[in-house]
Amino acid sequence: MANLRRSVWALAVMAAVVNLANIQEAMAMSPPDTAYDPEDGFPPAGVYVGSETCTECHDGYVEQLKQDKHGQTADTRTPMAADGCESCHGPGEKHLANVMEDKTGGVISFEGANTASRELENRMCLACHQGGALIHWQSGTHAAEGLACTGCHHMHRPSPVLDRATQAESCLSCHSYIRADIYRSSTHPIREGNVICTDCHNAHGSAGPASLEQLSINENCYLCHAEKRGPFLWEHYPVSEDCTLCHRVHGSNHGALLTKMPPLLCQQCHQDVRTQGRQHVSRFYDFDFSDTRRRSRFVLGEGCMNCHSQVHGSNHPSGAALMR
Ligand code: HEC
Ligand code: HEC
Ligand code: HEC
Ligand code: HEC
Ligand code: HEC
Ligand code: HEC
Ligand code: HEC
Ligand code: HEC
Ligand code: HEC
Ligand code: HEC
Repeated sequence: MANLRRSVWALAVMAAVVNLANIQEAMAMSPPDTAYDPEDGFPPAGVYVGSETCTECHDGYVEQLKQDKHGQTADTRTPMAADGCESCHGPGEKHLANVMEDKTGGVISFEGANTASRELENRMCLACHQGGALIHWQSGTHAAEGLACTGCHHMHRPSPVLDRATQAESCLSCHSYIRADIYRSSTHPIREGNVICTDCHNAHGSAGPASLEQLSINENCYLCHAEKRGPFLWEHYPVSEDCTLCHRVHGSNHGALLTKMPPLLCQQCHQDVRTQGRQHVSRFYDFDFSDTRRRSRFVLGEGCMNCHSQVHGSNHPSGAALMR
């Protein structure tokens, strides 16, 4: 960030110097003039020199592209079928002039010392990638956090996020607290690669909560746990409201991804049922070990689900208490 600010500042100073007319001197200053100011209009102005010119000096960069969708010249929508290298790197004339004078820059760079602003980088990609999977990009969290497309995607080498085996690792490089979750004792099989981040999330943002592919958390769960959708004759209200009232989706140290151990889990909401003289075990610890009639199943380690086994809802005619 500091670097970026410094170069923006430097560019501002250069612009002022250019205004003062001595263009030759300004060009000789470092850092070199790399950027196209997005304010100057889009796409960036300049003369396109063609990919053949670029590959004379940068032949290595064509290789990966040949295996990438972007390199398929038979597909007329691809950059290599359009303006070639310059579809992404911008018109190259200025860069050629610079290299001839033993300077770098003058081209849109995504890595290294002369990296362009993220806004400009992303605009180069968004020029072709609007809508579809990216329809919520502009309003998404990753855009708001200033992520570059190239934070996750590469063009001249494989992108780990597009490979099921390596995706989680790239996401976890930033989301370290999710990494902690998936190493708990009960988890979705994310480490095994059976379920990956983008089975549930859209990395480009979405209309749902937490950038989920679905419009609600429950819709997300029903995708793979359809039997929990019901409809049930006897519904358990928290289940149809929000599965995460009881489950921690990325991982938990309690069985079945539970937020708390039963009976504590259930007692959060059912502490005081059947207190009118009748015996029931849902009360909190009463520390009364002597009175066997009132003994707490909690103390004896007997869980609520020993009796209320249909915790997600029941279709049995007499299943009102979720016991069958
Ligand atoms: C005459 C040789 C030559 C040609 C032609 C050429 N480049 Fe370069 N390019 C260089 C050199 C030298 C560098 C600086 C050292 C390096 O990064 O390899 C460079 C750097 C770059 C960079 C990194 C940004 C920077 O300034 O360090 C990009 C991106 C780039 N070139 C793209 C292109 C594209 C796209 C074309 C075609 C429009 C092109 N180059 C044509 C020689 C050339
Ligand atoms: C000139 C248009 C164009 C530009 C510019 C462009 N792309 Fe693409 N991109 C395409 C096309 C066409 C495809 C293939 C789509 C398909 O097969 O459905 C594609 C595919 C992709 C894919 C899917 C790759 C895969 O293997 O499934 C990703 C990711 C991607 N582009 C990211 C980017 C990024 C990041 C940038 C900017 C650095 C960018 N694109 C710039 C046209 C473009
Ligand atoms: C946080 C990481 C991340 C960022 C940032 C990101 N992407 Fe992606 N992108 C992904 C992942 C992961 C996939 C694979 C999605 C899948 O398989 O469901 C993907 C897939 C794509 C695809 C293929 C979509 C399809 O339907 O096949 C395109 C195109 C694409 N991204 C373009 C972009 C562009 C353009 C940007 C910047 C505006 C960008 N991405 C930013 C992670 C990211
Ligand atoms: C689809 C967009 C796209 C196309 C087309 C493309 N590049 Fe790139 N280029 C990138 C991105 C993004 C990077 C950053 C590294 C990466 O993702 O692999 C990059 C990196 C580079 C670099 C390293 C310097 C830097 O800072 O960016 C050079 C040099 C380069 N490309 C040259 C070329 C040449 C030559 C061609 C044409 C044969 C070409 N590129 C075509 C997007 C593109
Ligand atoms: C370069 C760092 C970086 C990478 C890589 C990254 N993220 Fe993020 N992500 C962030 C930041 C920063 C936030 C916002 C703060 C937070 O929630 O931690 C965020 C937020 C999120 C959110 C919450 C979104 C919301 O709307 O509340 C999800 C979900 C997410 N990322 C998923 C992913 C996935 C999936 C991947 C891999 C494809 C990924 N991230 C890769 C930085 C990153
Ligand atoms: C089985 C579906 C599923 C998978 C797989 C999944 N998530 Fe999530 N994620 C969710 C749900 C549901 C939420 C929202 C509820 C919550 O916050 O617990 C969420 C929330 C998040 C959040 C924002 C909330 C927070 O805790 O800060 C981030 C960041 C996130 N996920 C990242 C990831 C990453 C990275 C991966 C892959 C390693 C991943 N998720 C895999 C379902 C999933
Ligand atoms: C992409 C598919 C998918 C989605 C979406 C999904 N799950 Fe799962 N879930 C799985 C798989 C696969 C398993 C592991 C099944 C197994 O090991 O037999 C699992 C297991 C579980 C388990 C049992 C874990 C254990 O240790 O016994 C719970 C609880 C669970 N999921 C809850 C949820 C909740 C809550 C959501 C929504 C936030 C959700 N799941 C969304 C695929 C998914
Ligand atoms: C009131 C708390 C609660 C809510 C809300 C809840 N669950 Fe559960 N869930 C449990 C408990 C307790 C277990 C463990 C059951 C056992 O050990 O017998 C469990 C187990 C599971 C399991 C693994 C065992 C099985 O039955 O397949 C899955 C999958 C699951 N829940 C999915 C969901 C989904 C999806 C939702 C939302 C639609 C949800 N749960 C909402 C309490 C809840
Ligand atoms: C987030 C709060 C919440 C949690 C946690 C919760 N419940 Fe419930 N439960 C409710 C609500 C609300 C009702 C509906 C109450 C009503 O109809 O008066 C209900 C109803 C029930 C009923 C049927 C009661 C009746 O009146 O017929 C049983 C049995 C039950 N819950 C057992 C459990 C068990 C066992 C657990 C732990 C696995 C649990 N609940 C966790 C909120 C919760
Ligand atoms: C030994 C079996 C057993 C255990 C263990 C048990 N219950 Fe019950 N529970 C019952 C019976 C029997 C009923 C009455 C069913 C009926 O009226 O049809 C009941 C009723 C309920 C009701 C409905 C209340 C009402 O007023 O009708 C709730 C809520 C409840 N139990 C919650 C819990 C919770 C929470 C736990 C764990 C702390 C728990 N139960 C443990 C047997 C048990």
